[in-house]
Amino acid sequence: MAATFIVDFGNGFIFIILCLFSFLCYYFFFKKPNDSQDCDLPPSPPSLPIIGHLHLLLSLIVHKSLHKLSSKYGPILYLRVLNVPILLVSSASIAYEIFRAQDMNVSTRNLPTNEGSLFFGSSGLATAPYGDYWKFIKKLITTKLLGPQALERSRGIRADEVNRFYLNLVDKATKKESVEIAEEAMKLISNSMCKMLMGKSDHAEKVRGLVAETDVLSKKFFLAAILRKPLSKLGISVFEKDLASISSRYNDVLEKSLVEYEEDHNQSCEMLDVLLEACQGKTAEYKITRNHIKALYVDLFVASTDTSTNTIQWTMAEIFNNPKILERLREEIDSVVEKTRLIQETDLPNLTYLQAVVKEGLRLHPPVPLVLRSFREGCEIGGFDVLEKTKLVVNCYAVMRDPDVWEYPEEFKPERFLPSSRSYQEDEMKEEVLKYIPFGSGRRGCPGSNLAYLSVETAIGVMVQCFDWKIEGDEVNMEEARGTLTLTMAHPLKCTPLLRDLNPLRYLH
Ligand code: HEM
Repeated sequence: MAATFIVDFGNGFIFIILCLFSFLCYYFFFKKPNDSQDCDLPPSPPSLPIIGHLHLLLSLIVHKSLHKLSSKYGPILYLRVLNVPILLVSSASIAYEIFRAQDMNVSTRNLPTNEGSLFFGSSGLATAPYGDYWKFIKKLITTKLLGPQALERSRGIRADEVNRFYLNLVDKATKKESVEIAEEAMKLISNSMCKMLMGKSDHAEKVRGLVAETDVLSKKFFLAAILRKPLSKLGISVFEKDLASISSRYNDVLEKSLVEYEEDHNQSCEMLDVLLEACQGKTAEYKITRNHIKALYVDLFVASTDTSTNTIQWTMAEIFNNPKILERLREEIDSVVEKTRLIQETDLPNLTYLQAVVKEGLRLHPPVPLVLRSFREGCEIGGFDVLEKTKLVVNCYAVMRDPDVWEYPEEFKPERFLPSSRSYQEDEMKEEVLKYIPFGSGRRGCPGSNLAYLSVETAIGVMVQCFDWKIEGDEVNMEEARGTLTLTMAHPLKCTPLLRDLNPLRYLH
């Protein structure tokens, strides 16, 4: 079995694990949990002695390895990494059963955190257990940042950044220079996020650099988080230096931003005002610390930047590889927006084909292919027993390519998301909830999906509306990068914009 997976043995720590564990913990790791003796656990594919299925998580493209595994052994599998039990879910029907019937039971990720660290730390949101702190922050980010009304209030910020994005592409087109789509998209997203979160984008470049570094390290941090408990029993700590270093650099830039914000009374950011008040104990609801604010901001920057950037990049690549889709998209934009102004967020509800293209991009290339949770209590899933504290991994990548619920699952077909008629619309939407999960699902599902759709659709809209594109070679290479947790292109999309025969430029204010 192991031979089917290419394993990244570049990480020296794996060898340490293999050797030390072989000698030290035979009993500990082979011991079956007492309460599993009489249980009907889901099927388990062949595993290696001691490490169990650890090699699967070390494979270079984890979601693909796990997809292959589920195609062979079934959509619900029991895995073991050292002594950590994991339930792997890869079909739409079982994912739906969990998010519908067990949502509360799986509403915590239960990753061991690093005290004091801003990323994967104990003050973060993504790592927070379901409880008062999480509820307080969730309500706050919904009302002040990510809910429909908050998004309407911040529309001007994003429109300014979209204009900047457009002007930058015009400049490149005039100079006949090529651009890396991900680089330009990253600037757009991180500038907007910085302005929405801190009132200005002065530190956006530093934040971008840190987010890119975090992405590279995230797979290591993720593994370290899963393995921390068993390793700490042996006195082994992994990647703590890397984590401390990146955390301290996030701290420097965020502390500087906070101080600048507090000193500059002309700046205004609703969300930061509420957070600073809660920090001073003025908000009775929940008392937080400055570290909570910074950890929340790290989570928001990390969660929003790479995901939206990757979606823009993958979807543009699909558009370039499908000229008919590009043509139809442009026809729609030209007829709705017309040729004298730049596409805006308020146009999006009328651009149903653009929405369908973005949805299809997210289906085939979900930036977060694996969703991680933990079962608080034992339960029954798909007719099998699941023990308490089992980790849950939902392979969204596999669910959204599940041939039982998607026609031509491997093909880029935006039409599948067009409502075929008004009467079918409701049924279709209901069915979609079961199988379309690029943002996860349930109460711990992504709170940023509305913002993500607005940002991604507008950015793609501008690139299609205003430019023709020259790509290198006949087709974009769609290979996936290895060794990261987010789904990233192996060969960043590079192309040259050519100004189209329309000029919304003169209509910009
Ligand atoms: C295309 C863009 C995005 C994708 C594909 C995406 C996807 C996801 C996924 C799969 C999760 C885990 C959900 C689960 O466990 O069920 C998640 C969580 C999260 N996302 Fe997003 N996301 C995107 C953009 C954003 C944006 C723009 C923000 C905020 C500005 C954001 C903030 C978060 C936060 C805070 C969490 C953790 C929520 C919690 O633990 O309660 N995301 N996202």
